[in-house]
Formats: sequence, structure tokens, C-alpha cells
Amino acid sequence: MAWTKKYEPRSLRDFVNQKDAVEKFLVWVKSWKPGNKAMLFYGPPGVGKTALVRAYAYENKLDLIEMNASDFRTAKKINEIFGSAMRQRSLWHRGKIFLIDEVDGICKEDVGAINAILKIIQQSHYPVVLTANDIWNPKLSVIRNYSIPVQFKKLSVWDIVKRLEYICQKEGIKVEKSVLRELASRSQGDLRAAINDLEVVGRGKKEITQKDLQVLGFRDKETEIFDALKMIFKTKSPMAAKLAIINVDRDPQEIFWWIEQNVANEYEKPEEIAKAYEALSKADLFRRWITIRQNWRFLVYMMDLMTAGVATAKKEMYRKFTRYEYPQRIKMMSLTKSSREKLKQILKILSEHLHCSTKTVLEEYLPFFKLFIKDPNFKKSLYKILDREQIEFLGLNKQ
Ligand SMILES: Nc1ncnc2c1ncn2[C@@H]1O[C@H](COP(=O)(O)OP(=O)(O)OP(=O)(O)O)[C@@H](O)[C@H]1O
Ligand SMILES: [Mg+2]
Repeated sequence: MAWTKKYEPRSLRDFVNQKDAVEKFLVWVKSWKPGNKAMLFYGPPGVGKTALVRAYAYENKLDLIEMNASDFRTAKKINEIFGSAMRQRSLWHRGKIFLIDEVDGICKEDVGAINAILKIIQQSHYPVVLTANDIWNPKLSVIRNYSIPVQFKKLSVWDIVKRLEYICQKEGIKVEKSVLRELASRSQGDLRAAINDLEVVGRGKKEITQKDLQVLGFRDKETEIFDALKMIFKTKSPMAAKLAIINVDRDPQEIFWWIEQNVANEYEKPEEIAKAYEALSKADLFRRWITIRQNWRFLVYMMDLMTAGVATAKKEMYRKFTRYEYPQRIKMMSLTKSSREKLKQILKILSEHLHCSTKTVLEEYLPFFKLFIKDPNFKKSLYKILDREQIEFLGLNKQ
């Protein structure tokens, strides 16, 4: 049996982190009544969306009625599996829980399937959990109205090491923590991938060393986003630009930041940069409406503007190699405590000079400093108010 299956959590005690999600789920499931909304677990692969429902059902001796949404194409199949289970009481009066896995696998055109799922949600006498990777997926727009979204996050290296350590102990494998740490960081927050890697290097072994890791090719998740950026920045076709992000397994918000960060690295003509930023600022408006009003209809506009809008801002393709860089905004969000202090200090200084809040500096001004600093006057002024170390901290010294 594959280790991911063998070590699937059988109770919430075995379940690693996802504290917010677990808490929301427990409150919801314990007070659930017929007619209530379903719960929609979403987030990256391999972080416990499916595993949480299974562990809960196992621990509470519930019948788990499970189906993978991509297995069916027709409403008939759904009704076969769920139809009778939906209303009947279990044989031994055991409770039930429904799991409709990977709902983003349904075709948008398959209205039958979507309607059948809605029917299950509305008529079920037991709680229904749906899972998806991408909650922003337009296919899910109707389902979203009938469910409560719950986000699952990438797991930390620390979380993953903890689980890998447990598995090694059960398998009787001796291993240095540094090796597990490397395995964990390779997996980029995906515990399934980490356990699979561990199985590849460790099955049947008594010990795993650093050298054993060489058999694993480096799984580079970053290439995916770089390819998408290249497509958007190089093409002039709106359609090609839109398609570029379809298979990128990231939040649209995050993709937005990648594009925003790199516009000025790729484009050189001021009027093109200005046009691209204009499209991005409009995209950002839609993003805010989506967040505030939970109105997912705006998502397509946001995506079109940030892809096609940026792609068509240029007159001609730049025939050059651009090294794309990691978005400053994501870096800022994952700062350590001492770095956060440093940032706070910088924001304070800037807010005084710009006469606005530190929040405004962070969100509205900082992203564009990289562009502004190309102007010698701006550069000179900035060096007057910040010291070298602070400018380095903002990554502006290389410009
Ligand atoms: N938080 C977790 N705690 C314990 N084990 C986990 C956790 N997340 C993942 N795993 C392990 O990884 C395997 C895969 O996890 P799971 O099936 O829950 O992923 P998922 O989030 O549903 O991903 P996908 O989006 O690909 O369906 C599980 O069988 C389990 O062994
Ligand atoms: Mg799953």
C-alpha cells in the first residue's frame, strides 16, 4: 500500500495543522441541519482537504459517502450514488457524511452534474463537503452560492517534517532531521508529494542519508509561473495571454502579484508600462469588488485585464531574455519578526514623507518604487530619506 494511503490520518489527532479550517469545519459539522449550506474546502493539492473528511468520518464512525466529481459526467451517476443514501437512514443508524471530491473537475457545460450537486446540497439530510483546488474557477460560480468556502493552506516545512518523522519512526527508518527538512522544503507545502518522495527514497531501507535524496529530480513548481509570465509578456494575442494562466496552480491574486512585479522588468517603453499598469489597476478594482461583495462574476474581468490587458499594452514583442523575479508583496507577507520590524520602520518614514498611511505606502506606493527609482531625481530623494541598508532591504539597490 502506498504510504500516503497507509498513513492517511485516522483521527484529527493525526491531522497536521490547518487549524483554521479544522475549527471552521468542526463548528459547521456539529451544528449542521438539513437545508444548511455545504462546505467547500479549497486550496493547493496534498494539504489535507480530502483527508480531513475521511479522518473525521473514521473517528466518528460515520458512513462516508464519497465520490470524485471527475468520475461522472451525468446527473444519473450522481443520483445513483447519492440519491438513495441521501434520504435513507443508515442500517445501524450510523450518521453519514457526503464528500464530493474535486468539483472543479466537472465540465462547465455539464449543467446536469452541477444541478445534481445542488440538489444534493439542498435535499441532503446529512452534511455535504465539496473539495476543489481553485475556488476562483468560473465553473464553480453556482456551487459557491450554496456553500461556505474554507481555505486550506500550504503546509509549513515544520508541519511536514513532523509527519515525515512520524512515518520514519513507524517504518523503523533512521534519518537525520536535516534530510527530512530538505525533503519537506522540496515539496513546497504539499504533504502528499513529500510522503511520496520519502517512500521513493526510504521504502525497505533502515536509514536515509543526504546522498539518497539525489535520486529525486528537483520538482520545480516555479517554472510553471515563469512560463505563464513569459507567455503573457511576449505574446500580443489576447487569447494566448488569457490561456497562459489556465493551468497555473496558484491563486489569481498571487498571479496578479507576479505580473505586477515583473511588468517593468519586461517592458521598457514608458507608455507601454503605463498602459500595462492601467490594466492592472483596473484588474485590482475588480479584485476588490470580488473580495468585498463576494461577487465572482467579476473574476473573468480581473483575469482578462491582468493577462490580455497587459499583453496588449505593448506595440511589439521584446526580443530579450528577462529574469522574472519573486513578488515583493509575497516576500513582505512572509517576513520574519525582525524583518517585519525593519519594514515597519521604513513604512513609517515613507508615510511621513508621502503624507499617507503606512498601509497606503505598502499597498499603493512600494510596488512601484522599483519603477520610480529608474528616475535619477526620485533615486536621489529616496537616498536622502532612507539609508543604504533600508534601500537594500526593499531590494532597490540593484536598480
Ligand atoms: N494535513 C494533513 N495531515 C495529515 N496528512 C496529510 C495532510 N495533508 C495531506 N496528508 C497526507 O497526504 C495525502 C493526500 O492528502 P489529501 O488527499 O487530503 O490532499 P488534498 O488536499 O485533498 O489534495 P488534492 O487537491 O490533490 O485532492 C493524505 O492521504 C495524507 O496521507
Ligand atoms: Mg483531494
